[in-house]
Amino acid sequence: MTADWLADAIIYEIYPQSFADSDGDGIGDLPGAMARLDHLEWLGVNTVWFNPCFASPFRDAGYDVSDYLRIAPRYGTNDDMVAFVAAARERGIRVILDLVAGHTSVEHAWFQRSADDPEDDRYIWSDRPGDGFVPSPGSRPGYYLKNFFDEQPALNFGYAGLDADQPWRQSVDAAGPRANRAALREIMAFWLDKGISGFRVDMAYSLVKDDPDKRETAELWRDLRRWLEDRYPDAVLLPESDYPAPPDIGVRSGFDGDFFLVIHPAHSALFNNGGAGTLFWLPDHEHCFFDARGPDGPGSLGTFLKIWDEHRGANGGDRLIVLATADHDFSRLCCGDRTAEQLGAAYAFLLTWGTIPSIYYGDEIGMRYVPGLPDHEGSVCAPGYNRAGCRTPMQWDSGPNAGFSDAPANRLYLPQDPDPQRPTVAAQRNDPDSVLSLVRRLIALRRNTAALGTRADTEVLTRDYPFAYVRGGTHLVVVNPRREPAEVEAAPLRRRQPAPIEVSGVAVSQGVITAEAFGYGVFRL
Ligand code: NOJ
Repeated sequence: MTADWLADAIIYEIYPQSFADSDGDGIGDLPGAMARLDHLEWLGVNTVWFNPCFASPFRDAGYDVSDYLRIAPRYGTNDDMVAFVAAARERGIRVILDLVAGHTSVEHAWFQRSADDPEDDRYIWSDRPGDGFVPSPGSRPGYYLKNFFDEQPALNFGYAGLDADQPWRQSVDAAGPRANRAALREIMAFWLDKGISGFRVDMAYSLVKDDPDKRETAELWRDLRRWLEDRYPDAVLLPESDYPAPPDIGVRSGFDGDFFLVIHPAHSALFNNGGAGTLFWLPDHEHCFFDARGPDGPGSLGTFLKIWDEHRGANGGDRLIVLATADHDFSRLCCGDRTAEQLGAAYAFLLTWGTIPSIYYGDEIGMRYVPGLPDHEGSVCAPGYNRAGCRTPMQWDSGPNAGFSDAPANRLYLPQDPDPQRPTVAAQRNDPDSVLSLVRRLIALRRNTAALGTRADTEVLTRDYPFAYVRGGTHLVVVNPRREPAEVEAAPLRRRQPAPIEVSGVAVSQGVITAEAFGYGVFRL
């Protein structure tokens, strides 16, 4: 059973180091975020997702946790988190945290113990080198299995199959895997008791190793889900989605929804224009639907609608799916050759489709992905895969550091010569034609209109440019993400005269839809 509130969530992702800095050390922090709650309430979002904000050496920007039960000192204290959660709740905003379930930092006490004690099996230790295995840094001989960077040792949740030639494989109910499951419960309970509403789960499907159909991984999460249902029935778990895992993996695992993040082909097929580089497993980059070239740069909705149908249908048709504008792992919505004038169509779609919207901080003002920044805290994963450009400081105002301090820690994030035209919250807030004002109006519209939410059905009228669909039988949405004007006939609209609600460059008359370059429209039927 899923907590009711998730279906109505409008998520806002806060990358804590870059969101708001209260103490002038150049790194964002919780009191800074607290001081910006006004912005979140004004914008209309009702759920905040914080990227990891726990103690960490920040080899991977906090996805390398050294103590799950302690807020990183650079962000504040546990009390600051409790205060943030309480103040947010007063404004109707819930908080979810990032649960880095599959690995720790090499600096976590569990790992340090394991690296010195050959009997300890909280991690996966082999006596020989091998793919993904890293030499022991401690007195224990051998090699540990990593999950991502070398400094992120995989916690041992067991293997789906045993193999006499690979003695490091343990079953999922061996002592080490059992201890790690218990630890996950302890971490979740610790923060849920402090008032948070759930977790986004990092690399959720990576826990049990060599588990091709994810049977054991799903069983592990189901087990945790049963415990949550008993103790914290209102808490949600949202997985970092895996691909090409079967679309029903989230349902089988008991997760409350699936998450189309930037590294997911469904997201890529919509928005990835190649402006942040190439991720080899995303075949659709440069062919996204929200592409100004339209059909000439063969953008199509096919991939997105296919994956959406598969996931939506995985639970009898009402599976919850979160669709992000972007996130901390690759590009931004405003990236490459996509300009601010193109964002209206993207937001009209995002905020009226049947997915749960997740807005990455700064995307609400059209902050741009900044190419070519140096590596910072693991932002460069591989040649051509640079996440620094989507992690730059929130552009609150037009000061030299966008409202952040001038402290050196932060300079790494900023282009040497900041663009004076860059979008800021301050400049957009009172401008009704700004991206920010549009996003705010669309959020309000969505929150007040059940037909635009996740529970209402969707009838796709046209699958091309312009894209047109009816939500809940009462609302027509049209978007034309390309530069070329587009016209299409939609027979079901022939006898209707839709009333405009939020429209720019779209007209509907006697069943014919005409859309100007980058036009969008939400109408009442
Ligand atoms: C996915 C996270 O989103 C990413 O930022 C991180 O580097 C890896 N998982 C490893 O934890």
